[in-house]
Amino acid sequence: MAKLIGGITTSHIPAIGVAMDKHLEDTPYYRDLFAIYPPIREWLQEQKPDIAVLFYNDHGLEMFLDKKPTFAIGCAPEYHNADEGWGINPIPPVTGETELSWHIVNHLIENDFDPTVCQDIKVDHGATVPLTLLWPNFTYQGIKVIPVSINCERHPMPKPSRSFAFGQAIGDAIRSWDSDQKVVVLGTGGLSHQLDGQRAGILNGDFDNYCMDKLVNEPEELCQYSNSDLIEKGGAQMVELAMWLAMRGTMTGELKEVLRNYVAPISNTAVGVQLLVNT
Ligand code: DHB
Ligand code: FE
Repeated sequence: MAKLIGGITTSHIPAIGVAMDKHLEDTPYYRDLFAIYPPIREWLQEQKPDIAVLFYNDHGLEMFLDKKPTFAIGCAPEYHNADEGWGINPIPPVTGETELSWHIVNHLIENDFDPTVCQDIKVDHGATVPLTLLWPNFTYQGIKVIPVSINCERHPMPKPSRSFAFGQAIGDAIRSWDSDQKVVVLGTGGLSHQLDGQRAGILNGDFDNYCMDKLVNEPEELCQYSNSDLIEKGGAQMVELAMWLAMRGTMTGELKEVLRNYVAPISNTAVGVQLLVNT
């Protein structure tokens, strides 16, 4: 059976992709942020996952206000990205894992989740920035990736509890896949941020740290919030906690936090990073 070796959360701010392109990692603005990632990269190099299941939100590259699947899953052999206007250079394609994708789709539909199945889809910064951060210099080409998107742009959005349950179903699917491959799960986005409107720039460090505390072994506490609660506490884009909850939902048993970090702000966002594994 496939083995789920751990979960990682990280922001996906486009400015981080631009900073990597321009080699700004060691400048005063970015130094603390980029110091977060080497220990996680080392953990990944030691653990050598074969596959990353990556929860992200499509901010408008493929799915915008006119067509917005609540949940969608990539079932393609390869994923390309494209210029979204943020100034990040396009990156080489990402390899898919169609057998596991279809296994997850079948399991989800049998268990009353009905995702949009994407056999041809480009991925946006929500997927590419975390991949280039965690596997720099395009070394993500050595692993296979399954992108899974959650609607965080257009109301009505899935409830936080529903995103968590969606993750639980995907975790069950991974564990029931007849393979000896190792899977790491990524929850991207967050934490507190709002990109436009009167509350643009809002950050809430207390709430962000509360979320990181609860994510480890009391995620059901976070499932009690509505999306309106999250928006009130951490801004319109705090709803990206959905991907953190989906990632956490894939994991079972007692967890330990191997690593946590928090830097705020980078661009408009409070960057939270966690690495969770079973005890
Ligand atoms: C920013 C953050 C995001 O999550 C995003 O998708 C786009 C931009 C930002 O802080 O700039
Ligand atoms: Fe985002």
